[in-house]
Amino acid sequence: MSAEEPSTPPRPTSAPPGPMRRGPPGSVLQRMEKGRIRHVVAVGSGKGGVGKSTATALLATELRRRGLNVGILDADITGPSIPKLLGMTGPLTDRGEGIEPAVSRTGIPVVSSQFMVEDEKTPVIWRGPLVTRLITQFFGGVNWGPLDYLLIDMPPGTSDVPLTVFQTIPIDGMVFVLTPQDLAALIVRKAMNMARELHVPLLGLVENMSFLNCPDCGRRIDLFGISKVAQIAEEYGIPVLAQLPVAPPISGLSDAGRLDEHTGAEVAALADAFVRSVDEATKGQTAVL
Ligand SMILES: Nc1ncnc2c1ncn2[C@@H]1O[C@H](COP(=O)(O)OP(=O)(O)O)[C@@H](O)[C@H]1O
Ligand SMILES: [Mg+2]
Repeated sequence: MSAEEPSTPPRPTSAPPGPMRRGPPGSVLQRMEKGRIRHVVAVGSGKGGVGKSTATALLATELRRRGLNVGILDADITGPSIPKLLGMTGPLTDRGEGIEPAVSRTGIPVVSSQFMVEDEKTPVIWRGPLVTRLITQFFGGVNWGPLDYLLIDMPPGTSDVPLTVFQTIPIDGMVFVLTPQDLAALIVRKAMNMARELHVPLLGLVENMSFLNCPDCGRRIDLFGISKVAQIAEEYGIPVLAQLPVAPPISGLSDAGRLDEHTGAEVAALADAFVRSVDEATKGQTAVL
């Protein structure tokens, strides 16, 4: 496949979004661009494989369980995971009035590059400018409907896509996922520093695979070493939103495409802390609904 052309061209929409200017956080301009979406929050990390997509899907499904309207924009173009975790297939449709997102069993609208390829094994091999266009379309060209939260599942790292998201989507802030390993703790700082430089509020940290509860004796095992999340949170002056354990049901349900069936005290705590943190960060703003 040529690297010049996309395997599947982005579907045209009747009203392609223009470049979205970022106002200062909380400005009227920024609120209005969001239309009927109350909050847009990116979920990112420095490294891949730490559980960004898992945390995004768990958070979205928990908020949905509480009756809130939540959408997921899967911005991980080369490693899209949300459709697999929630057992969803495409394609996305467009009847000339914008892209209709796919909708999960529990009512979560999702857009993902996964819905634009023929099967799970086909990669999307696109150059930067096309990826940038796709991300912009995935926000402004989609009929999201009224949403309380739009979560953006970010690709790892500090490359093109995060830059595009920060510069073209009016996000309220970003949640960072890490694991207790040194490397993940080290690299998450790069992602956090990038967000900070681009004036994106840091909403908090989620430590995933934080510990394991021994199934026999119930003792807590620090599988990946002692947590550094409190230290990093203090360094940046942001809250720890949750510490999620390594849980075999999470990987089992993910493989089965039924992660939306997973519940637990830690996931509930994550949703509580998330809502608090977003409210705090956007206090005083008037939502345009
Ligand atoms: N808390 C957890 N317990 C068990 N397995 C997990 C947990 N978090 C993530 N996983 C598994 O680890 C893998 C990577 O997670 P994923 O969310 O895809 O990471 P990322 O989006 O950061 O690349 C997946 O196979 C997922 O099922
Ligand atoms: Mg992922």
